[in-house]
Amino acid sequence: MEERLEAIKEKLKKYGQEHLLNGYENLDEKKQKVLLSQIENIDFDLIKSLYQNTAKEIKKSDAKVEPIEYLDKYKLKDKFKYYQEIGEKEIKQGKLAAVTMAGGQGTRLGHNGPKGTFDIGLDSHKSLFELLSENIKNEAKKYNVVVPWFIMTSDENNEATIEFFKKHNFFGYEYNKNIFFFKQGKLPMVDTEGRILIGEDGLIKQAADGHGGVYEALLKNGMIEKMKQMGIEWIYIGGVDNCLAKIVDPVFMGVTIDKGVIGASKSVVKANPKENVGVFCKKNGRPSIIEYTEISPEMAEAVDKNGELLYGESNILCHVFKLSAIEKMAVEPLPYHSAFKKATYIDRTGNVVVPETPNAYKFEAFLFDAFGELDDMAVFRVKREEEFAPVKNATGVDSPETARTLYNSLYKK
Ligand code: UTP
Repeated sequence: MEERLEAIKEKLKKYGQEHLLNGYENLDEKKQKVLLSQIENIDFDLIKSLYQNTAKEIKKSDAKVEPIEYLDKYKLKDKFKYYQEIGEKEIKQGKLAAVTMAGGQGTRLGHNGPKGTFDIGLDSHKSLFELLSENIKNEAKKYNVVVPWFIMTSDENNEATIEFFKKHNFFGYEYNKNIFFFKQGKLPMVDTEGRILIGEDGLIKQAADGHGGVYEALLKNGMIEKMKQMGIEWIYIGGVDNCLAKIVDPVFMGVTIDKGVIGASKSVVKANPKENVGVFCKKNGRPSIIEYTEISPEMAEAVDKNGELLYGESNILCHVFKLSAIEKMAVEPLPYHSAFKKATYIDRTGNVVVPETPNAYKFEAFLFDAFGELDDMAVFRVKREEEFAPVKNATGVDSPETARTLYNSLYKK
């Protein structure tokens, strides 16, 4: 034990993180063990370089950026049925599963609990999880199948999520038979000096590693294997906070299969050239996203011969992948982006600090950073008012109020 502790102290000294053991003596034996193994598992070089990157200006990429081809759902004419039939065939054979990424912190919304448990204020008071569950079940019923549902949680919300589902009898799903929960990875949070934080529980303060962690989490937790055993070939991946997400969508699948690609994304047309959204493009010939911070005003405003924006397909975090694509993307390391967030922590004197403004960096991988691993993707434009009602902020844009209005107007139709 002494030797182990000494080795850990040595390591902490090397990286200027000695404070991590400040409260060690006050922890019970069980927590002491946890803390030591947490420290042993930290990749301090990685954390150091991620912290150093927070101070660096983001380098403009010199990749060759070009528009990406897309299909508009409302311009398919008689091909609509053709695609629909292709997709339906796969769904009827039980080859589709749904993955909902619900590991985020939902800090902007400020809801106390997992975001999926949030009630957006519909007359029915259904939670986001319930709305998504209905959405999957009702569509699947049309094809006489159950679409298995895989929910990604994080350390922070896993227990509360499963508790919520239990309370609601898993919305008709059968636990560990056709509904599964798996946890994503996590990374330590650091303060503005690069020091790793200790959380209220006396242990390392860690946060989920971003929605880009989904590929690795699916693989590491044995979900890919499970899917294979279940005869799944395609998986839908989406966020928990779009209450209009059309998860079981034969036309979308048909378009993907017909194009002969192993990954596809839905898009909605950018509201205006200045909207702060990432749009699909090709970078060095491979599918990618260009962020609004990266695009020049000329590019943002450029139009094609029909007057449509050349870079106008906004990402709505709604994708379908073949299992082979996930396996490929899961083994490639993704870059981490930093986000400055509020994080409660224990300071050097042992006091709990609840900050009112952001005080710490969290490191996240983005789902779309892996798209370049695929040779090509299909991009399928759908209508915002039919498929995109995100709940991000407590008020204003993309809030419960806007989502509720969109939901009600679609379903009243
Ligand atoms: P957002 O990037 O909007 O993050 O996630 P968020 O956690 O919901 O909200 P903020 O930024 O803290 O306010 C988009 C989707 O990706 C999931 C979220 O749960 C949401 O469904 N996500 C995000 C994860 O599953 N894990 C993560 O680490 C981050």
